Amino acid sequence: MNKKIIWVRFIFTIIALTSFLQAQTREEADAKIIVQVNQPGHTISPTLFGIFFEDINLSADGGMYPELVRNRSFEDADTLQNWKFISTDSKSTASITTADVQARPPVPPLKPFNRKSLCIMANGSFKLENVGYWGMNIVQGNRYSFKAAARSTDGYTATLNIKIVGADGQELASGQIQEFGGLWKYYSLNLIASGSDPKAHLEISGEGSGKLYIDMVSLLPVQTWKNHGLRTDLSEALDALHPKFLRFPGGCWVEGDDFAHMNHWKNTIGNIDDRTPLWNIWGYNATQGLGYHEYLQLAEDLGAAPLFCINVGMSHKEIIPLDQIGQWVQDALDAIEYANGPVTSVWGSLRAKNGHPKPFNLKYMEIGNENGQTPYAERWALIAKAIQEKYPEVKLVANEWAGSHPHDPNPEIIDEHYYDNPDWFIWNSNKYDSYDRKGPKIFIGEYAVTSGTGKGNLRGAVGEAAWMTGMERNSDIVVMGSYAPLLCNFNHKAWPVNLINFDSYHWYGLPSYYVQEMFANNQGTITLPVKIENAPNIKPPYSSGRIGLGTWLNAAEFKDLKVTTPDGRILYKNEFSTNIDDWKKIGQGQWSVQDGVLSQSAIAQNVTAFVGDTSWTDYTIALKARKLSGENGFQIYFHCKNVYQRIRWDIGGYGNSTNLMDMGLTSVSMPSNIEIGRWYDIKIVIRGTNVKGYLDGKLFQEVGDVRMAVKSLCASAARDEKSGDIIVKVVNASSESLQTKLDLRGAGKLLGSGKAIVLSSESPEDENTLEEPTKVSPKTEPLIISGNTITRSFPGNSLTIIRIPTVGERK
Ligand code: AHR
Repeated sequence: MNKKIIWVRFIFTIIALTSFLQAQTREEADAKIIVQVNQPGHTISPTLFGIFFEDINLSADGGMYPELVRNRSFEDADTLQNWKFISTDSKSTASITTADVQARPPVPPLKPFNRKSLCIMANGSFKLENVGYWGMNIVQGNRYSFKAAARSTDGYTATLNIKIVGADGQELASGQIQEFGGLWKYYSLNLIASGSDPKAHLEISGEGSGKLYIDMVSLLPVQTWKNHGLRTDLSEALDALHPKFLRFPGGCWVEGDDFAHMNHWKNTIGNIDDRTPLWNIWGYNATQGLGYHEYLQLAEDLGAAPLFCINVGMSHKEIIPLDQIGQWVQDALDAIEYANGPVTSVWGSLRAKNGHPKPFNLKYMEIGNENGQTPYAERWALIAKAIQEKYPEVKLVANEWAGSHPHDPNPEIIDEHYYDNPDWFIWNSNKYDSYDRKGPKIFIGEYAVTSGTGKGNLRGAVGEAAWMTGMERNSDIVVMGSYAPLLCNFNHKAWPVNLINFDSYHWYGLPSYYVQEMFANNQGTITLPVKIENAPNIKPPYSSGRIGLGTWLNAAEFKDLKVTTPDGRILYKNEFSTNIDDWKKIGQGQWSVQDGVLSQSAIAQNVTAFVGDTSWTDYTIALKARKLSGENGFQIYFHCKNVYQRIRWDIGGYGNSTNLMDMGLTSVSMPSNIEIGRWYDIKIVIRGTNVKGYLDGKLFQEVGDVRMAVKSLCASAARDEKSGDIIVKVVNASSESLQTKLDLRGAGKLLGSGKAIVLSSESPEDENTLEEPTKVSPKTEPLIISGNTITRSFPGNSLTIIRIPTVGERK
């Protein structure tokens, strides 16, 4: 062999060896997801993904219930709330009148529960305007049904002109009503819009003299979803989530602030004019247009099992005495009879009268919302027993807060609620992996990332997606789950982050909406065990940040504060010779400085003051602190990104019983008792994820690495027995993309094409808006499969659902 050939061979061998070694190293470095396709696990709960509809954020009135007139019954206030009265020549007036049958002449109510009406004392021309819920959505060619009740006295005989008018003053539809008399009478018009405007309004005008009373002024679109009276686009947005159950109507709305304002289903059925409007805990009057019957109908139309949540006899402020709970028990039983009873039963016949002779098949009833402890357990026992005796087929859901209190009867399902930041959800995504399988099933009735997510960004959605892989992996025990809240008219936002946001005519879903949609549409029927190898840890959530001092229902003093780097450099020092005006303060604190001591004297909850830089990582905090009075000791904060994302050493917390290293996601506690008036020497040493807390020079508490480590990949896998597809859900919760080998072990040799549905975006902070509703939404990519491994790069902050058909594709 000549030298040249030997030389060339040598070079090739070196190249081949290098690439082999590189491939080996890459392979070792790659993360691995092993799906045990040939060892299927448990059946996935068919009801796993559902929705929770609460009348919050004007999601019913001003949302799903499409009444365009706001305060149609004039019951909302003693003034013309949401109405504008214009007397062209200033001679006519209008005011809210309350019915008075004793008056001479008597002022009759339109209905016994509808006692207020509008009285126009006409003396010339006048006009009434209503803009509904920040504009009425009028669409060209669509029909609108106008209805009002009216009566007149003192000689008012003139015609009323009814007009729908665009924001630019253009008339979009009009009609007239006339011939008013002394008795209440209904008048109606069928209006067809000649133009479109989402910000239109209603005008009612007339000219004459005398008194005109009007009430129940209604303008409803004739076209509604499935002709069942609800707003089409929003109903379709819910339908796209393919919910398997519908929990309704709350939430806190079920409890009410007090019993006078709790939700009573019996007041929400039948003729709309007979329903009693009620002040809703979320800050508006509810017309009850979306009532018990409509919820049941909505569930049926969505193909979702209804889950009705009923008051347990506890409002936010009151508890009904046990000997007066009869009405609560009866209401629960009657609700079931209304939904499921034969048409010959009292309540079943009402259901039939209201248009639904066939039973609705109410399968689940939740007793109470977020109630707990002994009062809850006692009331649960009475209501649950009565239901079990009469309707053993109805599954009963209890509130989680009762967990530590014995239940009789034992609940079949417990409702748990979680609202937190993205890291909490990622951190806890394996919460149920080691859960007690012998207890009741879990319904995660409310969960959502509500902080550290802007107005609802991709990062929040990733947190929920990670959590949902845990729900799916454990759906033998977690049988149901629903995001909350579902809907928000963004002109009345009562909750910080909501899944579907809308105005009078359009909507957008948070990135979280697409997570819900992706999971619900790719559920599968049987789990496949998943193992994740080599996935790097993500940066611990609280890895850098400022420091802070705080108190909770007590007064305390601080001095000699010093923050140093590990090599002794001073990051911050304060000998408290001047006030801490440059610190960021939270809460109702009273901070002052005297003789080198910083004092906080207000007895208030959650009083904190922060200083320093959010980029600070490793440092040591040294200071002295003493408790002056009140319940607790003092809190030293560190790695604070903001008020919510921080770690603190809570010294003398929980009524001065505990020292708590509180990391937001998790905490470690030790018993303690802080003496009043004694100065304590405090040192906190922070190195990476290791934190040591010293009291008077002695190491008191240490939190090691392990607690802070969070894996970057979360996954769940399933097979859909109907289609034969293997479905793998992968969440990359880190910020970097991860080259990952997906090993479909035992799947045989797969050949053909599948798809990857990917939710990601340029920045984890990206959000959707009404203007850019699908900025963060899933994209589908084809996937060519050959063999049973797939190597793929999962983008940072993403959810990917991989669907691989197996039927007819296997070699
Ligand atoms: O989802 C918003 C509220 O959060 C619900 O009304 C209540 O159940 C929870 O506290």
